Amino acid sequence: MKSFPAAAVFPPLPSGGVPLIDLQREVIALKKTKDAIILAHNYQCEDIQAVADFVGDSLGLAYKAAAAQNSTIVFCGVHFMAETAKIVNPTRKVLLPDLNAGCSLADSCPAEKLAAIKAAQPNLYVVAYINCSAAVKALSDVIVTSGNASKIVQKAPADRPILFVPDQNLGSWVSAKTGRAMQLWPGNCYAHVQFTPTALLRAKAEHPGAPVVAHPECTEAVRDLADMVCSTELMVDWCKQQTAQTLIITTESGMIHRLRREVPGKTFVAAPTDRCSCNDCRFMKMNTLEKVRDCLRDGTPEIILPESVRAAAEIPLRRMLEWSK
Ligand code: 13P
Ligand code: SF4
Repeated sequence: MKSFPAAAVFPPLPSGGVPLIDLQREVIALKKTKDAIILAHNYQCEDIQAVADFVGDSLGLAYKAAAAQNSTIVFCGVHFMAETAKIVNPTRKVLLPDLNAGCSLADSCPAEKLAAIKAAQPNLYVVAYINCSAAVKALSDVIVTSGNASKIVQKAPADRPILFVPDQNLGSWVSAKTGRAMQLWPGNCYAHVQFTPTALLRAKAEHPGAPVVAHPECTEAVRDLADMVCSTELMVDWCKQQTAQTLIITTESGMIHRLRREVPGKTFVAAPTDRCSCNDCRFMKMNTLEKVRDCLRDGTPEIILPESVRAAAEIPLRRMLEWSK
């Protein structure tokens, strides 16, 4: 009989937190001398989150990047997120510790393919999940994140057919929530679709009574088993509100570090897959503390965008930031 891994369990952090290591102190000192701000996504590893000036979801990070005053933004996340920072704040130097930190979901939607569909159906209103390239953003009418997608889709013109790119799972969740029919691009997040109903049911059986929160990039069958479906930022608020001592978190495992810091005293269970006791995004984990130090020290690798693409992508992104307020 096949044996499955037990879900990884993270008890509360010791009071007083985790002491900094020398490399973290070096990064903090370099931030000052280089006039840099570190923005980190919730999926970054624990040692990076601990030196960041802001840790958040794609929406919070986009607002922070737009408002950043420092001459350099070190973006600890994946490529489309760092591109977003450059699009909304083009006079800053934007560094990504590992330029190969891509996103399979973003890669599933090549701009040329989208351009061809738009040419064939010119009336389409393109709603693009922020997990897409700058070139795809440049072809879109409005951008959404998992934190604001329903709100934004409700504002889309009622007389235009919507094409939602590139995540079909987020798209179907938003469509069900808003009642708005949408054509869905056939893309998904390789990491989130590894969560299965059977693996989640096993975790629930191992932790009876523990409420479950899931990211909308999970499949509908997994979302249906969750008590709450939301963006990574809203997971923090939701976990704070729960009276249960133990909570099951169905998203990338880096999220647990943010939760342990901001929701003290609770035990977090990383939802397992059928193969692993938790779930990492291999792209998010390409950034390491060493690479953060190196990119701060050397001022590279830098995000560079053709100005025509950047300017065209800024229009739907600004629309999102405005509509999301
Ligand atoms: P959030 O905006 O909810 O943090 O999601 C980003 C992401 O890439 C999820 O896979
Ligand atoms: Fe892309 Fe999925 Fe990784 Fe998010 S978790 S960056 S959607 S591959």
